[in-house]
Amino acid sequence: MSRPAQSPSRRRARPLGAGRLLAMAIALVPVGAGVALAASQNGIVRPTYEPPKPTVALGEELFNANCASCHGIGGTGIEHPRATAGDISGAGPSLKGVGAMAADFYLRNGFMPLENIHTQPGRRRVLFTRKEIAALTAYVAALGNGPGVPHPQPGGGDISEGFKAFTEDCAGCHQSVARGGYVTGARVPPLQKLGPTEIAEAVRIGPYLMPRFTSHQISDPQLNSIIRYVQWTNRPDNRGGWSIGNLGPIPEGLIAWLAAIVLGALCLALGKRFSA
Ligand code: HEC
Ligand code: HEC
Repeated sequence: MSRPAQSPSRRRARPLGAGRLLAMAIALVPVGAGVALAASQNGIVRPTYEPPKPTVALGEELFNANCASCHGIGGTGIEHPRATAGDISGAGPSLKGVGAMAADFYLRNGFMPLENIHTQPGRRRVLFTRKEIAALTAYVAALGNGPGVPHPQPGGGDISEGFKAFTEDCAGCHQSVARGGYVTGARVPPLQKLGPTEIAEAVRIGPYLMPRFTSHQISDPQLNSIIRYVQWTNRPDNRGGWSIGNLGPIPEGLIAWLAAIVLGALCLALGKRFSA
């Protein structure tokens, strides 16, 4: 991904031997405040010694090495993209006050660390261990006064209430049985296979282009119903109608059009026969 032609300092760069590359990589590994860090194969930089329990101090080390290039030291945010190591530009929102909830959601689902600020965050392989996620979450939570991880109770929810609320607030983007799709500027994920906590977190956070819903807009009991409905869409019992795999309005519309064209052609053919 390096573009030597665009970077004057690299214009005269020659291909480097593997040995020199390795030496450079070792020299580039940041060694801050006496902490030894090492880059792993998947790009995550972690201390060579990790305490057995997740601590805020471990979270801070991991944050400075893997997140601060975009979110700033201390999570204060970086507004205008600026070049960091390897010409990758970094920019990201302030994390003061986003709380354990946002850190838990973005890290446990592999949304962070983002590879490139121009891509939509989304589910990717989780690169941190559970302990590291707990440490990073504790560190981000300590940056400001923010919401904790929610504990929804979908068992107390009501499917038909959930269907109503989902149709009103979510289906416009996520489609009526939560199979996802596209809106301007974003891919909208399907919601099957998500746990209650993740759904509750997403509704309260509003990741990427999704709006955030406060408890005034969607109360906790309503949220329980929405989660219950979303979980029900894992196995809707498609009574009535032809499901076409619950793929939503586009294929259903296509098939309706196809049927209309076939019928229209049939009418024309019959009309010709009788008028002849
Ligand atoms: C304006 C469109 C829009 C609306 C309205 C919307 N969402 Fe989303 N939703 C998105 C987008 C886009 C994403 C992907 C965010 C990302 O990639 O970071 C998303 C992500 C999610 C996720 C996380 C999915 C995952 O794979 O982790 C959940 C859960 C979710 N939405 C639930 C809901 C619920 C429930 C509602 C209604 C209360 C709702 N959304 C309303 C657009 C929307
Ligand atoms: C390449 C840049 C980049 C890197 C590296 C990165 N982030 Fe982000 N992060 C972003 C951007 C851009 C967003 C905004 C995305 C969005 O709105 O969903 C974001 C959003 C977040 C959010 C949600 C904030 C909110 O307002 O709800 C959290 C939490 C977060 N990042 C944590 C982390 C952590 C922890 C790491 C390190 C493991 C990290 N990020 C690494 C760019 C980055």
